[in-house]
Amino acid sequence: MNTVFGVFGDPIAHSKSPDMHNAAFRELGMECTYHAFRVSPGNLKDALLGAKAMGFGGVNLTVPLKQEALKIVDADPLAESIGAINTVDFKNGMTGHNTDGIGAKRAIEEHDVKIKGSSVLIVGAGGAARAIAFQFARDGANITIANRTEQKARDLSMEVSCVGLATGCGIDNIKDLIDDCDILVNCTTLGMKPNTEGTIATSRDMHKDLTVFDIVYNPLETKLLKEAKEAGAKAITGEMMLVYQGAEAFKIWTGVEPPIEVMKKAVLEGF
Ligand code: ATR
Repeated sequence: MNTVFGVFGDPIAHSKSPDMHNAAFRELGMECTYHAFRVSPGNLKDALLGAKAMGFGGVNLTVPLKQEALKIVDADPLAESIGAINTVDFKNGMTGHNTDGIGAKRAIEEHDVKIKGSSVLIVGAGGAARAIAFQFARDGANITIANRTEQKARDLSMEVSCVGLATGCGIDNIKDLIDDCDILVNCTTLGMKPNTEGTIATSRDMHKDLTVFDIVYNPLETKLLKEAKEAGAKAITGEMMLVYQGAEAFKIWTGVEPPIEVMKKAVLEGF
């Protein structure tokens, strides 16, 4: 019998997850389908209980449901500390996970860049920054979180300090901060369509040994990544974070390693 998977969110029409997961299921010959469902926070509990009752294989959660889910499912320690859930599994009750940070880690490490022991500058202090900061701190990086609203960076770094090394500051001295780091991660919305000229830093702020990872993937090559290339730094595009967070969810649900290239192709075809 066909096993159903899905992503819940609102808005949800433009999600690339159905294309990505359905391509993986097809490639592996698995009798499974993945669909997008528009669900509001007030309906999340009913939607999850309904999905479990109907034998869904698992669901992803996106905006605005990731935090709400903590009140409903049993979160694993990482999702609990991040304060957000993007993957729900139904095998043992309803368990919640967060694969966003590991998605970023795999996207960076496939370029032969090590997280462990690196100095990582995360710019931004929203949901994506939280997931990446907790994951990378657990993985042994030395984290600096810099944010336009400095207090938010300080608050987040205090929380992250419980699992690893982290400090928080503002973004005024971005060049000095970049001078001291190996990996720069943009977790702000700067550079995203339609404001494609926005960037947290320019080539003048960067050095050759730097790796720059932009979680913005719309456009794929952001202004920040163009600047990184100009500086001779390594530039890593953000779509692989989406692919790998999905791949990690796929493994949690099915125990099967999905075909990464097939998923990547499905995501890029949508551009
Ligand atoms: P997400 O949950 O996707 O990470 P978010 O919670 O909306 O998104 O966070 C957006 C981040 O981008 C915030 O850190 C925000 O900084 P503030 O906390 O000061 O608002 C940052 N950001 C957005 N626009 C920015 C800009 N023009 N310059 C610098 N930072 C910006």
